[in-house]
Amino acid sequence: MGVIYFKRFRMEVDLTEDLPAFELPEGFHWRAWADGLTDLHAEIKYRSFCDEVDSKVFPILGDRWGCQRLMREIRSKPGFLPEATWLIGCDRGYCATIQGIVDASGMGSIQNVAVLPAYRRLGLGKALVRKSLAGFADFGVERAMLEVTAENPHAVKLYRKLGFRKSKTTYRAVTE
Ligand SMILES: CC(C)(COP(=O)(O)OP(=O)(O)OC[C@H]1O[C@@H](n2cnc3c(N)ncnc32)[C@H](O)[C@@H]1OP(=O)(O)O)[C@@H](O)C(=O)NCCC(=O)NCCS
Repeated sequence: MGVIYFKRFRMEVDLTEDLPAFELPEGFHWRAWADGLTDLHAEIKYRSFCDEVDSKVFPILGDRWGCQRLMREIRSKPGFLPEATWLIGCDRGYCATIQGIVDASGMGSIQNVAVLPAYRRLGLGKALVRKSLAGFADFGVERAMLEVTAENPHAVKLYRKLGFRKSKTTYRAVTE
């Protein structure tokens, strides 16, 4: 059995400046958080992550039931913030999910950003993150963070475009 180390970046953004306006592409709509949506968020998360590098870093993301467990854990955290937790839908169903919590220090923490493969490069990832940041800001949160795997350069690029900057590098050991 071997151990692989994945480099991870913590990235942070200031929410005290005015956030740029954003819109969803035509044909898509927001669905606000409700308790009955836990499994739907989990399903979109699973189908978005199962073939991606993060399912190697966090095997739970590559497992449908694991994603359901993860969503229940996120939902039950004391700082879970419905205003930072969204689905995007279209006439063919739901296609993207994001969740946010406020940690013990008062910082917003984006949990997972996930867009189904068929709906990528349409601006949905960017819209999701902005919507979640707006939810944090409306709640009075002044700073938000997320963690991203260095081997996921498209996600790093997306976050940089939205003003996130690297604040820390960590390594996550995964047993093969
Ligand atoms: C990362 C992810 C959320 C991006 O979603 P998306 O809807 O495709 O992103 P957007 O269309 O909003 O793209 C925003 C910017 O990110 C960058 N980007 C995103 N995907 C890219 C790609 N495949 N190639 C190059 N740049 C890309 C671009 O700069 C893009 O801006 P542009 O289209 O104006 O060039 C999506 O690929 C995904 O769900 N991946 C699997 C799950 C995952 O890894 N999530 C991130 C965990 S930290």
